[in-house]
Amino acid sequence: LMTAATATAMTLGAGAAFADCDDGEMVIKFSHVTNTDRHPKGIAASLLQERVNEEMDGTACMEVYPNSTLYNDDQVLEAMLQGDVQMAAPSLSKFEQFTKVFRIFDLPFMFNNIEAVDAFQASDAGQDMLESMARRGLLGLGFWHNGMKQMSANKPLIEPSDAEGLKFRVQASEVLKAQMSAMGASPQPMAFSEVYGALQTGVVDGQENTWSNIYGQKFFEVQDGITETNHGVLDYLVVTNVDWWDGLDEDVRDQLSTILAEVTETRNTESYNVNQEAKQAIIDAGGTVRELDASQREAWVEAMKPVWEQFVEDVGQENIDAAQEMNA
Ligand code: LMR
Repeated sequence: LMTAATATAMTLGAGAAFADCDDGEMVIKFSHVTNTDRHPKGIAASLLQERVNEEMDGTACMEVYPNSTLYNDDQVLEAMLQGDVQMAAPSLSKFEQFTKVFRIFDLPFMFNNIEAVDAFQASDAGQDMLESMARRGLLGLGFWHNGMKQMSANKPLIEPSDAEGLKFRVQASEVLKAQMSAMGASPQPMAFSEVYGALQTGVVDGQENTWSNIYGQKFFEVQDGITETNHGVLDYLVVTNVDWWDGLDEDVRDQLSTILAEVTETRNTESYNVNQEAKQAIIDAGGTVRELDASQREAWVEAMKPVWEQFVEDVGQENIDAAQEMNA
């Protein structure tokens, strides 16, 4: 039934877009929290669904649930361990309960761009991270890119001191909380699906996210503007349940791995462009985007980078050194 699945995935911008699975097909539920259109993860998940349902028809059937329609990121990993969902791609900030190794990706100004992130993930240090939670029952199958984060608030943010005293929504990550505190701001961890409402009602004043998330969730509509800080990275781990994965027939597991690897490579090379298109869409929709000159940006580096010291032990100086080499 791949034709129906493909059509559904293509036409439904919101809500669950899933295939009608046939009797006898193994159902693979993939849960995520973003929109599907103009979004690196949304597009990658839809492509994965399309290819699995076409190429593994009769054997496997993938149902992708976007937009937090099945689970939020703070629920999905527990649900995966219970066997209620088989795949997800939470951001690397969402694994704190399971491992601290991903904290390196949240450290501000660690990576200059997504190419450096990609190179680090492809190194031995990065690849070892895929199995860092295996004893806890979770296996990383690969990294999917989103991109660099930008800052927004209900007032213009030019100097880091503009953020002082403001409340910023952050993902539930100790590093991101420390980063906001370093600026004299107050971090408020919150589920992604609640951020728009919290910005709109003034529960929080600002947030940080990628162009595709700021566009997809329409944050720009309820913020004064977005400042192009590129201060950190938001990237994803495609994750599964170790027992479920190990229990698959070898040929099924191999085919699924191959499709996933191909989708990952194809979509990761496009993530930068998808974010740039989202940035342009924000501007076209009347959103305000502010750029920083070199000395203004340096002030953000000085304000945020001291946070590294608090986490050196968690992430390892050797990993920091390896990550920094990727910026060269
Ligand atoms: C967030 O919570 O801001 C992001 O992790 C959402 C996402 O999946 O991109």
